[in-house]
Amino acid sequence: MTMTLRTAQERDATTLLALENRCFDSDQLGLRSFRRLISSSTAQVWCLFEGTELVGYILVLTRKNSGWWRIYSIAVAPEQRGKGYARMLVTHVIAQANLAKAEGIRLEVKVTNKSAIALYQALGFEVQDILPGYYADGQDGYRMQRSQSVALD
Ligand SMILES: CC(C)(COP(=O)(O)OP(=O)(O)OC[C@H]1O[C@@H](n2cnc3c(N)ncnc32)[C@H](O)[C@@H]1OP(=O)(O)O)[C@@H](O)C(=O)NCCC(=O)NCCS
Repeated sequence: MTMTLRTAQERDATTLLALENRCFDSDQLGLRSFRRLISSSTAQVWCLFEGTELVGYILVLTRKNSGWWRIYSIAVAPEQRGKGYARMLVTHVIAQANLAKAEGIRLEVKVTNKSAIALYQALGFEVQDILPGYYADGQDGYRMQRSQSVALD
């Protein structure tokens, strides 16, 4: 099956929303947010397709006056997990950050989200802080970060 990784277009917003709702129980992005982010100059929404099927996405926020990028969200369809797709998405963002000469990448993750934490640690992210009650459901978060000076294996 052909894999395609490309930035999201306006027409992808409803498909992204459907994936989002299948992947998260709380703090989901809504349709308006996806539309706004897709057209924003300080956001990147990367979509991964297997054939014509959206199997995953990653959302990155950048700021004009900061060298630090932020992975705001990443999700892979439940039946497509364990195939290296999330690794592909994060690795792509690290490469994009390198091209842009960013300083590094930060993100937040629920302390209970073992698979996501393992993914980030495998790619060189380290826990910087604990964020008590950070999520809408009351769970704590970790702030993790990865400097771009760290080489990818
Ligand atoms: C977290 C998520 C994106 C991982 O997607 P995925 O495509 O299955 O991950 P990959 O197959 O690319 O795995 C890459 C690495 O992540 C880690 N990992 C992924 N899933 C894991 C699991 N269930 N248990 C332990 N480690 C896991 C491993 O280090 C893995 O490398 P390995 O296969 O060489 O061991 C996916 O589970 C998901 O969409 N979850 C729901 C949404 C979510 O929680 N997003 C993160 C918000 S911060």
